[in-house]
Order: sequence, then C-alpha cells, then structure tokens
Amino acid sequence: MNFELTNEQKDIQKLARDFAEKELLPQVRERDESGEFPLEAFRKLGKTGIYGLPYPKELGGMGGSYLSYILAVEEISKVDAAFGIAFSVDTSLYGGSIMNSSAPDEIKKKFLAPITYGEKIGSFGLTEHSAGSDAAGQHTVATKDGDSYVINGSKCFNTNGPLADYTVIYCLTDPELGTKGMAAFVVEKGTPGFTVGHVENKMGIRTAMVSDMILDNVRVPAENMIAKPGEGFKLAMKTLDGGRIGVGAQGLGIAEGAYEIARQYLMQRQQFGKPLNKQQYLAFKMAELATDIEKAKLLLYKAALCKEEGQPYSIPAAMAKMTCTDTAMKVATEAVQMLGGNGYMKDYHVERMMRDAKITQIYEGTNEIQKLVISGSLFR
Ligand code: CAA
Repeated sequence: MNFELTNEQKDIQKLARDFAEKELLPQVRERDESGEFPLEAFRKLGKTGIYGLPYPKELGGMGGSYLSYILAVEEISKVDAAFGIAFSVDTSLYGGSIMNSSAPDEIKKKFLAPITYGEKIGSFGLTEHSAGSDAAGQHTVATKDGDSYVINGSKCFNTNGPLADYTVIYCLTDPELGTKGMAAFVVEKGTPGFTVGHVENKMGIRTAMVSDMILDNVRVPAENMIAKPGEGFKLAMKTLDGGRIGVGAQGLGIAEGAYEIARQYLMQRQQFGKPLNKQQYLAFKMAELATDIEKAKLLLYKAALCKEEGQPYSIPAAMAKMTCTDTAMKVATEAVQMLGGNGYMKDYHVERMMRDAKITQIYEGTNEIQKLVISGSLFR
C-alpha cells in the first residue's frame, strides 16, 4: 500500500487547483446569484483533455488514471461545486455509460472523443418522475422501426441537460420485461422531437444546468444503441458506481473548501482578546472536522483505486459517496456556525457551500440508497 500520489496525479491536481483559483473563484459568488453556467470556462478547461482523462487513448480519451480524474473534481469542487458536478456528470455518467457499454469501439470513439476536449458536452438520462430511487420504474419506451428506434417519454433532473450535445437515454424496448427490457441510446441535440423541458430553480449548485428532457417521437439510428435490450439497467448501475466516486469527490472538495475558510477565519478573528483558534472548543471542533475529512478522503481514494485496478468497486463507491457527502454537509454547516453572523452572509462563501453540500447527499443515489447497496452485501 502506498499513500503517495504519482507525478501524473500531482500534475492534474495542480492543473485543476490553479484553474479553479484563477478562472472560477473570482466570479463564483456572482454566478451563484445569476445561476449562469460558465460555459466559456468549461470549454477552456476542456482544452486540456481533462473530461476524457480516465478513458483510453484508443477510444478518444486521455489514458489517465481514475484517481487523477477524482483529484481534479475534488480540486474544482473546493471552489465551485456546481462546476464540479457538471464535470463529473460529463466524465463519469455520460463518458462512463459509453465506456462501460458493449458498443463497438468506433461508436465509443465517436461519442467519447468530442467530450474529452470539451467540444461537446454529455448528459445522463435515467431518472423519470416515476423512477427516482426506484430506477427500474421507467416509462420511456423505444420502439424499433426499420433501421432506427423511435423513443417516447421524458426524463427529469438531467444535469447538463440544457447544455448537452449528447445525452444517454435509458429506456425500455419491451415494457413487459421491466429492467430486463431496458436499453440505452445516445440521443444527439437537435434530433427532431428531443427538447429541453422545465429548467430547475435550485437551492444550491445554482449554476449547474438541470432540466427535464422531452422525447416526442425521437428517431435515432440503431447504431446509437449503446446497450442492447436487457443490458441497459446493468449499464446504468455500473455507470452509477463510477459516478458515485465522482460525487464523493465533489463532497470532499466542498468539505475541504469550507474547512479551509473556517481555519483561516479562526486564526484571524479576535474575540475575548485572542484569536478564535485559541478557544479550545473551536480548536477541538476543527480537529474533529480534519479527522472526518481524512477518513472521507481515504475511502474515496480507495474506491477510485479499486475501480482503476479492476477490483469490485460498487461497495467502496457507495461507502465513499455516503461518507464524503455527509462530511460535506457536516463541515459546511459547522463552518457557517463557526463564522457566526459572517458565516450566514454570502461574502464568506460557506453558506453557498452548505447549500451546495445538501444535494450531494441526494443525487446519484440518496445516501439511504447507498446504505441499501452496502447492507445488501453484508448478509450473503
Ligand atoms: N452493477 C452491475 N449490475 C448491477 C448493479 C451494479 N452496481 N446493481 C444491480 N445490478 C444488477 C443486479 O445484479 C440484477 O441483475 P439480475 O437481474 O441479472 O439478477 C439487476 O441489476 C437488478 O438489480 P436489483 O434487483 O438490485 O435492482 P433494484 O431494482 O432492486 O434496484 C437499486 C437497486 C440499488 C435501488 C437501484 O435502483 C439504484 O441504484 N437506485 C438509485 C438510482 C440512482 O442512483 N439514481 C441517480 C440518477 S443519476 C443522477 O442523480 C445524476 C445527476 O443529475 C447528478
């Protein structure tokens, strides 16, 4: 076992940290108010190839490690967690669906290479109004018609939905078979009948674009079918295992970002004739939070390494997602409290981090679903 990052991992970490501080931090508060997604910055970061980092070069990716990708999401999310989830959905839910699929290599390359450099953006369409935690409760249906499929239905809570050039749509080819009749297709922006529905107005991650996607007689070529009937549910589950490591990285980043703001504040703010960090109650609180962050980080990096090394990672991913996102909520809430009245004000960032943290406990499988996944493995 080795706790040292490789040079590649350190380089990616630095690249993402410098980008976040230079390109994202200056306007992050204003964007939180306007809700505007920083598309130009997203494309700029994409020029480094970072969105295809963990995927093989032969298939249009960068051939890097999964841990490098996780470190990048963590660094970005320390500053701007909304950007962090846009990145994570692009890479691990959209890109992961393509990579984990049984599609031929030329199709994988066709739909993966353009997201690697940020020229195109990807999204993941699984959730429906009737299929949230119960992902099997799908109603969107694809019907074969000659050389193509015609898809009807709708998806909701699609992160990147309004921005996406490519969306992986999970749907039923045979509703009678339930999950055994689930397939998946890449649907391209502009395909007639494929439109953006209601765009959500959210408590946190304000600049991440999240919407309904409507499919009204959307005709897609059969070659866009990346999971054959019967393979779709397993593809979605496997992809979500990787995505949950990404959300864990987002949660860890929020926790670290809020922790650092609190740490600086406690050293500077004087009350009762001394800096706040000299109050043992607050110093001990910080000791607990630092330990929580370290525990979360170990679980997260372990999950990423399991995936990278081809070991089973479903349970490590669920443990990491749950722990990192609960840590995000805890640290951000405690940071608001430690900053007192200032913590409640927008200038200090921690109130935004607290709002951003909440969704990480909910999406890509609520933390109750993570417990379902973990407990399911305990009594076999
Ligand atoms: N990998 C591969 N296959 C898997 C799997 C995994 N991790 N988990 C389950 N499967 C397989 C099972 O082996 C089973 O196969 P067989 O039929 O051959 O036996 C099949 O899938 C069905 O499994 P289950 O009976 O366990 O399925 P279930 O209907 O009980 O559901 C669940 C299990 C874990 C609750 C699942 O529905 C789930 O994960 N729900 C949460 C959904 C979720 O995470 N949604 C997030 C949406 S995306 C999002 O949030 C994106 C965003 O915007 C940020």
